[in-house]
Amino acid sequence: MTDWQAELRRRYPPPATDGVESFYFSLDGGGRELIVDAIRQHDVRVMVEIGSFLCGSTTQWLDAAKEVIVIGIDPWEANFPAILEKYKDNPVFQPCFSKIADRQQFIDSVRSHGAAVSAAANVRRFGERFVPVKAASPRYCMSWPP
Ligand SMILES: C[S@@+](CC[C@H](N)C(=O)[O-])C[C@H]1O[C@@H](n2cnc3c(N)ncnc32)[C@H](O)[C@@H]1O
Repeated sequence: MTDWQAELRRRYPPPATDGVESFYFSLDGGGRELIVDAIRQHDVRVMVEIGSFLCGSTTQWLDAAKEVIVIGIDPWEANFPAILEKYKDNPVFQPCFSKIADRQQFIDSVRSHGAAVSAAANVRRFGERFVPVKAASPRYCMSWPP
C-alpha cells in the first residue's frame, strides 16, 4: 500500500462489512463501455469516482483491469432504502435489478446495514483496490435524489 492509500484509509476508515451480503445493483443508463475501454487503453491505475451509490459502477471499473484502484467519494447519506423502494416497481429501473434475486431482501439489507456499509460490502471481493471516502465533493452539483 502506498503512502497516499494509507493516509486516505487513516482519514476515511473503511467500514467493517463482516456478515453483510453483497449485491450487484448498478444505476447504469448505458455508455459505460467507453470508460471501461479508457481504463484499459490508458492503463489507468487510480481513478476517482464521485457518487458511487451501491458501487455498481465501481464494480465495473474494478473488473475492467486488475491493477486499477478506485477512490469512491460519496456521502452515502440519502435515504437509499426509500430510493430503492421507488425504483423497485418502476419499469425504467428494471435492468438495474437484473442480478438481484430477491429485491426486498436486498432493500432490507441496505436498510439494516446502512448505505456506506452496503456499498463497501458490494466491492469487498476487490479488497484494498476500493478506497471509500465518505464525504461530499464540493464541486458536484447534482441534487440527490433528483
Ligand atoms: C446516480 S447515483 C450514482 C450511481 C452509481 N454510480 C451506480 O452505478 O449505481 C448518485 C450518487 O451520488 C451521490 N452524491 C450526491 N451528492 C454528492 C456529492 N456532493 N459528492 C459525492 N457524491 C454525491 C449520492 O449519494 C448517490 O450515491
